[in-house]
Amino acid sequence: MKVLLVNGSSHLHGSTMRALEEMIGVLKAEGVETEVVQLGGAPLADCLQCERCREAGKCVIGGDGVNEFVEKAASCDGFVFASPVYYAHPSGRILTFLDRAFYSCGGAPFRHKPGAAVAVARRGGASASFDVLNKYFGLSQMPVAGSTYWNITHALTAEDVPHDEEGLQTLRNLARNLVWMMRCFAAGRDAGISPPQAESGACTNFIDRGGRPYAEG
Ligand SMILES: Cc1cc2nc3c(=O)[nH]c(=O)nc-3n(C[C@H](O)[C@H](O)[C@H](O)COP(=O)(O)O)c2cc1C
Repeated sequence: MKVLLVNGSSHLHGSTMRALEEMIGVLKAEGVETEVVQLGGAPLADCLQCERCREAGKCVIGGDGVNEFVEKAASCDGFVFASPVYYAHPSGRILTFLDRAFYSCGGAPFRHKPGAAVAVARRGGASASFDVLNKYFGLSQMPVAGSTYWNITHALTAEDVPHDEEGLQTLRNLARNLVWMMRCFAAGRDAGISPPQAESGACTNFIDRGGRPYAEG
């Protein structure tokens, strides 16, 4: 079993990574393989909604790890998306990265696999950021792993993280719940329980009301 963890900070060893390390310690102790995707400090282009991924089957911007992340996701069993809090929202970096990853692949490599969001803040905006990250799971048929508190750690720098004892406890419990969910899904698969087949076809965007897209009035 493998968990793919995303560090949404440009700091490779900052507080967000320190929070992820707390989870990695538990995951490894449980015999689960881990891989961290570092978004780093290089510029990341935002999604252009050019729709060229519909034909290409991947993001045509490329060259910045988004497509490689999607490829890795296909062989992983669980996900952790972690971000520092910037003005009470997740980093623009992780939103850009995940927007393009999920939009370009339509969510298939993530579907029916559990995900967990983690937000790291000095003081405020953590639960709002946590909510935003959870949206990727909700729209992609991904069950969400929870913990004994919202998945939040308070720190300005990595050195602060160990002082937030409840934050670390929450992350360790989150990692255990994530492993338990992955094992339950694997046991279900072994027992012949398949994920449900989703209905499709309905797409309510009002283009049929007057023959013109709703946004154009
Ligand atoms: C542009 C910017 C905005 C920030 N906004 C907030 C904020 O709204 N609330 C907060 O508690 N911390 C805020 N911070 C502090 C970071 O969330 C905090 O330092 C975090 O631990 C950084 O994580 P990292 O070391 O993984 O990058 C902000 C930092 C930056 C650079």
